[in-house]
Amino acid sequence: MSQRPPGARPGTRAELLRGPFDPGGQPELHRDKHMHLSLFAWNVSSGLSASKAVLSDPERHQEFWKWPSAAKLLRATEEAGFDSQLQYGMWSGYDGATRWNNSQLDFATAATGSAAITERIGIYTTIHVGYQIPPLLLAKMTASMDHLSGGRLGVNIVAGQNAVDYAQFGLVGPPSQQVRYAIADELVTALKHLWSSEEPVDFEGEYFQFHGAQIDPLPTSRPRPLLICAAGSDIGLDFATRQCDALFITADDKDLDGYARRAAKIHAMAAEHGRKVRICAMCYVVMDETDAKAAETTEWMRSQIDRDALEVWLTRSGHIMNSERQEVTEDQFGEGRAKSGANQDPYLGIGKEHYEGLGMGMGAYQLFGSYETVADQLIDLYESGVEQVALCFFDPHKGVQQIRDHVLPLLRKRGYNL
Ligand SMILES: Cc1cc2nc3c(=O)[nH]c(=O)nc-3n(C[C@H](O)[C@H](O)[C@H](O)COP(=O)(O)O)c2cc1C
Repeated sequence: MSQRPPGARPGTRAELLRGPFDPGGQPELHRDKHMHLSLFAWNVSSGLSASKAVLSDPERHQEFWKWPSAAKLLRATEEAGFDSQLQYGMWSGYDGATRWNNSQLDFATAATGSAAITERIGIYTTIHVGYQIPPLLLAKMTASMDHLSGGRLGVNIVAGQNAVDYAQFGLVGPPSQQVRYAIADELVTALKHLWSSEEPVDFEGEYFQFHGAQIDPLPTSRPRPLLICAAGSDIGLDFATRQCDALFITADDKDLDGYARRAAKIHAMAAEHGRKVRICAMCYVVMDETDAKAAETTEWMRSQIDRDALEVWLTRSGHIMNSERQEVTEDQFGEGRAKSGANQDPYLGIGKEHYEGLGMGMGAYQLFGSYETVADQLIDLYESGVEQVALCFFDPHKGVQQIRDHVLPLLRKRGYNL
């Protein structure tokens, strides 16, 4: 426990609540639309595409994150009828010939820039909890982003697992799963205190301490910005259902029954705490006028997967979709890979399906096909309990137009209000 520093303002001692902790209640989750549409990973190079196909037209497939391309994309996203932009939180990237995700706009600049050039869509930023960024700074910056956007901010909370990024912040990591989510819990509690308190606050946590801390302005959103989380493990889900509002269902529940089961489990976990959550899914989209034309593109992308980038991904982030589930074994992950010979295997030792799923969407649910096929798949996801989709496109500028001109009209014709 730290000493109150001399000179600190008098502060009300904040309780170290581990949730459910919703001062002022939870933000409203229900809307008049069937599904919430987000554009995902627009702020990192190549988004979720780890295929050398991106090199065929770098401006379209890799560099869309750059201003003014990103500004144009975000305005088009709003105009097309999307509900939010969701940023990918990344600080290093995975190299390879495509330098997969090596360039990124940071969580604050990307949110603020996108808030300034749009009027309606949600501005969902992504914040890592483990890099010892002081809660006051995060609370202050997010309240300012919310202010600038007129109350459109959402905050995606990420308990990262990338050792390279911990090292970049001068830390040894990643910590154990328990510690990652204990830090997340404490940080979110601290944010909720700072976002809601009109008086200076003292906070004496295990990971964070502050004294006489206060932000002004408070967030514009009432009661506070939406909190999003993509935890996959049970420990992560326990945190997310107590503290957050929108939850991504992760990787291996890729069949529709799996989504439905997962959604039911998560709703039940939240209900135990008297809370409600929105169920979300991350999707990777390649579409065209016909299934055959879309298949031509996906076959070409598959033949071009950036194997070196995936190898780095496996070494640094192999468990990223669910640290408990151990989708890859110890000899396929981290340092173990070099010894096991997994790198000699054409599919890096993880099997063709997993390899291609990572290369084309980082394990996201794949929406490949004609506009009709993609509309059908979105309806199936919705009917399985998914209320928000975060879409990432091989060609984001084109993808957003295709959603506007083809997919949304088809969905509306079938009675789905999006
Ligand atoms: C849709 C989605 C988005 C995610 N976004 C990020 C991100 O932007 N940055 C990051 O470091 N991790 C991200 N992750 C990883 C998750 O935060 C989380 O660590 C992962 O799903 C494993 O869950 P676990 O920590 O409960 O094991 C994302 C995962 C999913 C499914």
